Amino acid sequence: MLRATLLVSFFLCSAALADDDLAAMADGEGKDFVYLLCADCHSMQHVLEKRYTRGGWRGALERMTVDFGMAELEADEHREVLDYLANNYGPNSTR
Ligand code: HEC
Repeated sequence: MLRATLLVSFFLCSAALADDDLAAMADGEGKDFVYLLCADCHSMQHVLEKRYTRGGWRGALERMTVDFGMAELEADEHREVLDYLANNYGPNSTR
């Protein structure tokens, strides 16, 4: 019984954490895809605290793929992710 209760609360907590991460993200095209992609390995805070230029974000995506094994993105997916990050988390972002 305890085991079942712990399991249920674990799922409830992790769902709540994930929701916080999603809620912290800027609204915009690509948001859900970026969340599903990036939050698979680490908290979105890792991403949202950064302010990179478009080139900087391109480099970050490269590091995720080459160093950490993130899936290769199709060209249109890559553009969507880069657009979202550069538009919302660029050097001039006021967030
Ligand atoms: C396959 C696992 C994986 C995925 C998927 C992933 N990351 Fe990462 N990421 C890591 C690891 C591992 C680190 C470094 C360890 C740490 O700091 O926790 C990291 C660190 C980072 C950092 C901080 C360090 C740096 O290089 O700037 C940023 C920014 C980042 N990730 C962005 C992203 C974004 C944006 C996405 C989605 C497009 C993403 N990550 C998806 C594994 C991943």
